[in-house]
Amino acid sequence: MLRVAIDGPGGAGKSTIAKFVADKYGLDYVDTGAMYRAVALNAIRNNIDQADEPAISSMLENTVIDFNGTSILLNGEDVSGLIRTQEVSMAASNVSKLGPVRTLVSRLSGDMAKTKDLVMDGRDIGTNVITDAEVKIFLTASPEVRAKRRYDQLIEAGKEADYDTILEEIEQRDYQDTHRELNPLKQADDAVLLDTSYMTIEEVVSSISQIIDDKVRG
Ligand code: DC
Repeated sequence: MLRVAIDGPGGAGKSTIAKFVADKYGLDYVDTGAMYRAVALNAIRNNIDQADEPAISSMLENTVIDFNGTSILLNGEDVSGLIRTQEVSMAASNVSKLGPVRTLVSRLSGDMAKTKDLVMDGRDIGTNVITDAEVKIFLTASPEVRAKRRYDQLIEAGKEADYDTILEEIEQRDYQDTHRELNPLKQADDAVLLDTSYMTIEEVVSSISQIIDDKVRG
């Protein structure tokens, strides 16, 4: 089997890199962050307090999440275009602290990894979801570089952006994701650390390819 687990903080480029690697090796791609984001969107839509575990838990009874390789479906609706806002990013980090939410998304992700070769990205893939993944990568970049990349993306898309606010939100989400009790963001002991602060996308994909090729060749 070839299962590539890519973990790291928000904005490190995990999904961009994961998609390139999946394409190159003909593997499926699963974005676990998108599933937490879909749960968060559902909580926002239903005005549910993101820290109210019982309320979120009962919401989950009527929530069907599916990731089909490209789109994220919330109760059958394609919400891929709605989950990339700053509001949903923070809400996803909030709801991802809760046990019932982690159990649901971990189960869905774990089931996908049982039967297929894939690239999966998130925060706890190498430490929790696929602990025996053939390849584990911890992808990171400094908060300042991640904030600058996000700022540039927004400006390029013709949107308003404030660098200091973006940096503050990145640091807040890093703190939450690394300090929560359940499956916090942490580099697995057997993961390869890649700091992409001063690397191009091509360089990162090529480094990961080298690691995969070494692994496949044994
Ligand atoms: O990767 P992302 O930015 O789309 O993830 C959104 C949030 O979801 C992130 O701040 C924390 C949570 N998350 C998680 O707890 N575990 C994962 N495997 C993936 C995401």
